[in-house]
Amino acid sequence: MTPEQSSICERFQKVHPRCQALWERASRLIPGGITHDIRYLTPFPIYVARAEGARKWDVDGQEYVDYWMGHGALFLGHSQPRVVAAVQAQMALGTHPGACHELEIRWAQLVNQLVPCAELVRFTMSGTESTHLAMRLARAHTGKPKVLKFHGHFHGWHDGVVGGVQPPYDQPVSAGVSEATLGEVLLCQANDVKQVEELFQRGDVAALIMEPAGGHSGDLPTLPGVLENLRALTARYGVVLIFDEVITCFRYAPGGAQAYFGVTPDLTTLAKILAGGLPGGAVAGRREIMSLIAHRNDPVWDRGSRVAHAGTFNANPLSAVAGITTLELLADGEAQRRANKTGATLRSELGALVRRLGVPAEVYGESSIYHLSFEGLPGPSGFDKPRNHALYYLLRCALLLEGVDAPLFHSWISATHTEEEVHRTVKAYENALKAMASEGAFR
Ligand SMILES: Cc1ncc(COP(=O)(O)O)c(C=O)c1O
Repeated sequence: MTPEQSSICERFQKVHPRCQALWERASRLIPGGITHDIRYLTPFPIYVARAEGARKWDVDGQEYVDYWMGHGALFLGHSQPRVVAAVQAQMALGTHPGACHELEIRWAQLVNQLVPCAELVRFTMSGTESTHLAMRLARAHTGKPKVLKFHGHFHGWHDGVVGGVQPPYDQPVSAGVSEATLGEVLLCQANDVKQVEELFQRGDVAALIMEPAGGHSGDLPTLPGVLENLRALTARYGVVLIFDEVITCFRYAPGGAQAYFGVTPDLTTLAKILAGGLPGGAVAGRREIMSLIAHRNDPVWDRGSRVAHAGTFNANPLSAVAGITTLELLADGEAQRRANKTGATLRSELGALVRRLGVPAEVYGESSIYHLSFEGLPGPSGFDKPRNHALYYLLRCALLLEGVDAPLFHSWISATHTEEEVHRTVKAYENALKAMASEGAFR
């Protein structure tokens, strides 16, 4: 069915005239009218005017329970009052001193205290920059060129990680990347420890980078025991193990998935929750590897052997103060316990709902994330075919009409989602899935 034939799309258009007008204006100025690929939506995206707690309101006055939560960054909710106050106070003191400042030390100290592998911490401005830097550090540390990456694992948008992101895995998710760069990354099926070892035996692998809980925020879960096996294997072959914890750190536990699963990597990449809803990221890890960035007051080392790392807004005071306030608020694990409980309730109630309605969907997940799949549960190596995006766009529109905004495949729950919001969400899914069924979407 095309969007024009769908009564859901028709109703969506009817209640969002201002969103549509903004999108038409945006499309004349911004390619595709959007500023992040995953905000793409047919017939058009919504435009949000304000947000608070777990809710947000669009320019047409529609209210939503939000499961985007700043792409997973806003674990303590939109406009958390203590974060807002801290950022406002810092704003008046200066947003960029062009110099070192005490806040970056406090921020690094918190990461060091919370995250098991974080002997040293270097701040960046995004998760993409963090994975880029971590891969560079691993290559410098080992003197080897290749990085091993799993099918279906996402590490941002830089040239080094666009291979093997979505099926078909032999086709990168972006044009414009040279064959030489693509060839520097070896792709491997997720959860296939044997294939990993075979690739390590080539002798040219610097690092294994992975999302520890599984690709795409756990859409493709890592099987029990695999992290332990990969830790042992990387140690045996001298390969740097990088956990990309941009999603999981501070969410699964104050110390991230590495604390939750009890497996410590050599390096970890951070962003999102780290900076409390402002832009920010970091690489953290073993002193020996991280120290490759440090100057030594030795011209030969400093110019020729060091890992270079710049970035105008790295550890800027606004991001630092938002990050510090957030990490202090979630350090005791209480927010994670609350969000994990909400996650378990939502997964169980949505699972029961799709079974009761007889809708061909699976609901699964871990911690404070739930996944809804129309393609069944993923196998050990993930989904082998492209997902049916049109069906997910339709679900998103149907949910928006019912007052819920959930991303296509995985939804991020915050510590501020209440029981009442969970009930509202389940009711919204019920109405949305019924509307989809009634227009033959599942046939
Ligand atoms: C696991 C993972 N790594 C890296 C990134 C890239 O982070 P950013 O969007 O901050 O560049 C993301 C973004 O969603 C992510 O989920």
